[in-house]
Amino acid sequence: MKKILVTGALGQIGSELITKLRSIYGDSNVIATDIRVDNQIAEQGPFELVDVTDEQRIFQVAKDYQVDTVMHLAALLSATAEKMPKRAWDINMGGLMNTLEVARELNLQFFTPSSIGAFGPSTPKDNTPQDTLQRPTTMYGVNKVSGELLCDYYFQRFGVDTRGVRFPGLISYVTPPGGGTTDYAVEIYYEAVNNKSYTSYIAEGTYMDMMFMPDALDAIVQLMEADPAKLIHRNAFNISAISAEPMDFARAIQAHIPEFNLTFNVDPIRQGIAESWPNRIDSSVATAEWGFKANYDIDRMTKEMLEKISSKVNL
Ligand code: SER
Repeated sequence: MKKILVTGALGQIGSELITKLRSIYGDSNVIATDIRVDNQIAEQGPFELVDVTDEQRIFQVAKDYQVDTVMHLAALLSATAEKMPKRAWDINMGGLMNTLEVARELNLQFFTPSSIGAFGPSTPKDNTPQDTLQRPTTMYGVNKVSGELLCDYYFQRFGVDTRGVRFPGLISYVTPPGGGTTDYAVEIYYEAVNNKSYTSYIAEGTYMDMMFMPDALDAIVQLMEADPAKLIHRNAFNISAISAEPMDFARAIQAHIPEFNLTFNVDPIRQGIAESWPNRIDSSVATAEWGFKANYDIDRMTKEMLEKISSKVNL
C-alpha cells in the first residue's frame, strides 16, 4: 500500500491522477497539494496548500502525513516557460530540487514527468530512441533534461527510488492544459463541439506525439508499481500513443462532425518549439522494462473526447 503526496494536484495531470490514485490506494492515502484550493478535490480527501519553492513546507506536509511516495507534478509548461524563462527555472528546477531533497531526507519513492520537450532539433525525429542526443533549445527542455539528470543523480548517489516518463502532449476532457505547445490538440475538440471549426496555431504537417489521459495515468501507476530489478532506465522513459499533425485530428473529428472545418493561423513561437521536438518517439524500452502499453489510438480517443465534451456542453 502506498501513501502518496502529489504536488501540482490541480493541474492537467494532477486533477485526474488524484481521483485515480484515491480509487486505488484509498482517499485518505493520497494527499493533494497545490498553491490554491479546489473544493471538490479537498472534500474527497486530504488537501494542503504547498508552494514547491518552499522546501520546508513540502517537508512538513510529507512528514505530518507520513507519506512513502511523492509525485511531483507542479511545473510551468513550454510556451509559458518561453515567456518567463527565469520564473520557469525557479519553479521547475527549484521545485524539483526541493522535492527531491524531501524524498532523500524521508526516504520516499519519487515520480516526476519529463517530456518530449527534453529533445531538440539535433535529436533524430522519427522513432526517437530512448537513449539519444538531448540538446533542447527551449527553457522548458533545458529544465526537463536537467531534471532527468538530477533524478538519476539522486538515485545513483543517494539511492532515492526515482522514476519518470517522457510524456507526449496529453489530451483530456477534464482539466484543460495551460501554456503548452501541444494544447491545440485539446482545444480542437472543444471548438469542434462548440463551433464546428478551429484555427490551429500549429502548422499543417507538424507531427508531435500525443496520448489520451487514461493511458498516461495508467503509465504512472504501472511504472511506480514496477519491479525495480527490471528497471535499467529510470529517468525518463519514452512513452507515446499517437503521432499526429493537425489534419489528422481534423479527419478523426470529421468522422463524427462532417462539417468540421480546420484553418491555420500559425504562432511562430509555439511552431518553433514544435519543430524542435520529435515527430514520433519510440516507446519500446518502456514496454520491455515495465510493460508500457497504450490503449487509445486517435480514433478511439476522438470518439470519447467528442462524447464527453458534448455531454458537458449539453448539461
Ligand atoms: N504538453 C507539453 C507542452 O506542450 C509537453 O510536455 O509544453
